Amino acid sequence: MSDTVFLNGKNIYLRPPELNDASIFGKWFNDPEIRKYISNRFPYSLFIEEELIKNINSEKNVFLVICEKKSKKAIGNMSININWVNRRAMLGIIIGEIEFQNKGYGKEAMVLMLDYAFSELNLHKIVLEVYDFNKKALSLYKKLGFKREGHFKKHSFKEGKYMDLTYMGLLEKEWQKYSE
Ligand SMILES: CC(C)(COP(=O)(O)OP(=O)(O)OC[C@H]1O[C@@H](n2cnc3c(N)ncnc32)[C@H](O)[C@@H]1OP(=O)(O)O)[C@@H](O)C(=O)NCCC(=O)NCCS
Repeated sequence: MSDTVFLNGKNIYLRPPELNDASIFGKWFNDPEIRKYISNRFPYSLFIEEELIKNINSEKNVFLVICEKKSKKAIGNMSININWVNRRAMLGIIIGEIEFQNKGYGKEAMVLMLDYAFSELNLHKIVLEVYDFNKKALSLYKKLGFKREGHFKKHSFKEGKYMDLTYMGLLEKEWQKYSE
């Protein structure tokens, strides 16, 4: 396991992924309890995960592993996919280890990534998509200052039904107000 720290928080830190994270990522992305909240529908083998990890970080994509500080355990991952022309990025996050959810780690990881995106990368806006049935994620994003910018009815097929999806955005100036 890597000891690298890229973004340091109080209870968690974020580090770049290594090849030996492939099996844990596979566990999370294949887990029905995680999969139902994200866009992934297809199985991820170890081979696919390893190939993804090899090429995942670039100037267009920042992908980080969320680790609990006290155990150094990888508990989730998150990414921002950057559009440099518009200085905007699409964010995604999972706390893949279910027993590590609801401990404030998701919120802390979001704060670290948002600070990095605005203060270090000089991005102007972060956007994300969330299913309307994902009340926890919606509540977390609203608390951080994200505003609902769009609503897509019966947009995405999940668990046998077309689900509504909300598109949210956070501008840099709104983040500065929130984090003051
Ligand atoms: C959504 C997710 C990232 C949140 O991370 P988390 O570590 O579980 O959440 P936190 O403990 O940091 O809680 C953050 C906020 O969520 C809200 N929240 C937590 N549990 C909740 C619940 N059961 N119902 C509604 N809101 C809830 C609260 O507003 C909380 O803020 P507070 O502690 O200041 O009251 C995580 O649960 C997860 O990965 N879920 C599965 C995958 C997923 O949904 N990814 C996002 C796709 S858009």
